[in-house]
Amino acid sequence: MKQPMIGTANEMKLPNLITPLPGPNAKKVIARDAQFISPSYTRGYPMVAKSGRGAMVEDVDGNVFLDFAAGIAVVATGHCHPRIVDAIQKQAAELIHISGTDFYLPNLVDLAERLAAVAPGKEPKKVYFGNSGTEAIEAAIKLARYHTRRDKIIAFYGCFHGRTMGALSLTASKAVQRKGFGALLPGIFHIPYPNSYRCPYGNPSPCDCVEAATFLERDIFKRIVDPEEVAAVFIEPIQGEGGYVPASKKFLLELQRICRQYGILLVSDEVQSGMGRTGKWWAGDHSGIEPDILCVAKGIASGLPLSATIARASVMDWKPGAHASTFGGNPVCVAAALATMDLLETQYIENARRVGEYLFRRMADWPARHKIVGDVRGKGLMIGVEIVRDQKTKECAPDFRETIVRRAFTKGLLLLGAGENTIRIAPPLMIDEEQADFAARTLEECIREVETSA
Ligand SMILES: Cc1ncc(COP(=O)(O)O)c(C=O)c1O
Repeated sequence: MKQPMIGTANEMKLPNLITPLPGPNAKKVIARDAQFISPSYTRGYPMVAKSGRGAMVEDVDGNVFLDFAAGIAVVATGHCHPRIVDAIQKQAAELIHISGTDFYLPNLVDLAERLAAVAPGKEPKKVYFGNSGTEAIEAAIKLARYHTRRDKIIAFYGCFHGRTMGALSLTASKAVQRKGFGALLPGIFHIPYPNSYRCPYGNPSPCDCVEAATFLERDIFKRIVDPEEVAAVFIEPIQGEGGYVPASKKFLLELQRICRQYGILLVSDEVQSGMGRTGKWWAGDHSGIEPDILCVAKGIASGLPLSATIARASVMDWKPGAHASTFGGNPVCVAAALATMDLLETQYIENARRVGEYLFRRMADWPARHKIVGDVRGKGLMIGVEIVRDQKTKECAPDFRETIVRRAFTKGLLLLGAGENTIRIAPPLMIDEEQADFAARTLEECIREVETSA
C-alpha cells in the first residue's frame, strides 16, 4: 500500500490515490449506507468523502481526488474556503437561528440588497429566501400564479427544476423522477428545448433554434392554451441536469419578447448556472435577458443550504402570510452567502471565465479527434461533453458515459453525468490551469480507453 501524502487535501492540488477503490474504510461505510440510507439516491461510484479543501476531496481511506463535480455545482468557492469557514463560525457563535419570517435580521437585508444589485434589469427587486433549489422554484410558481392571477405554466423538455410536487410538475428530465408519484400540478405544458446539437426542428447543428420560441406563439397559444391564461414560462438558460445544453441568445431574446407581449412572466432558473459559474453572474447575462423572476440556489452559500427567489418589486406583491419558510434565510447560511459573494465578485467569477475558456479551448476539438464525442459546449466552468455511439447518427451512449465517469474516478478525478449521455464539468470556480490540465488530460485518456475498447 502506498503511503498517504504529507498533509492532506489541505496542501494538495492534484490527486493522490493510496488504496484500491473503494478502500477498506469506504467499504464499511457503503455497507452501512445500504442498510440505513434511502435507496432513491443515485451513486455512480464508491466515493466516501471525509474532508475537502479547495478543489480537493479526501476520502475515508486517505485517497485524494480532484473534484470536478463540486457537490453538484455547489461549492463555488471551493471546499471549506477559510473565509467561508470564518464567516460561518463567527455567525454560529453569535446567532444560529431566529426565523427571518417573524423577525428582522440585518444580514438578511444585506444579502437581499446585494442580490438585487447583481440581478439583471434596472427595476428594483425583492427577494424571498428558501433552503434549496426546489424551494426557490416552488416560490416562483406560487408568486407567478399569485401576481398574474393566471394558473398555466410553460416549461421545456429536458428541464430539471426540482423534486417537490410543484417543481417536479415542471421537471421533464427523466421519467424515473416522476414515475410512481401520481398526478402532478395541472396546467403545465412542456415544449422542446432549443438544443443546438440536436435541434428538435431538424436544423443542422449548430443552430439558434429560434423555432423553439416561435412554436409557443404559432402553435401552443393557438391550439392548446390561450396566452392570457399563462402565468409564466420557466427556462434554464443553460440546461443543467438535462445535459448542460445552452439556449441561444436569439432564442432567449425571442422568448422574452413573447413573454412581454402577452403579459407572461419570464422565470429564469439559474439554480445551477448562476452565481458566477458561467463567468458572469448569470448565464442569462450572456444573452442580455432580464427575467421577471430569477431562481438561485446551489453555489449561493458555498455549500450551506440557501436559495433565493429574486423578483421585480412590482411582481413580488404577495401579502404577509402568503408564503414563508421557517429556516429560509437562516443567519449562518446568509453569512456564508455574503462571504461567497465577496469572493465571487473579487476573484472567482473572473477565474471561472478565464479558466473556463482555457479548459474549453483544450476540449473544443474533441469531436474531431474522438469518434465517441459528439459535442463539447458550455460557458465558463459549466461545460458538457456529449458521448455518442456514432457521430453521424448521434445515437446516445449512456453506457460509454458511465464507464468514462467511473474510470475517471479510478484516476482521481470526480465527475458527474448530466442528461442521458453527457459528462458534466462543474468544478469549484477557484480551480487553476494546472487542475484544468489534469482534468482534461485524464478525461481524454478515459475517453480514448473507452473508444479503443468499443
Ligand atoms: C436548474 C435546477 N433547478 C432546480 C434544482 C433543484 O435544486 P435542489 O436540488 O437544491 O432542490 C436543480 C438541482 O439540480 C437544478 O439544477
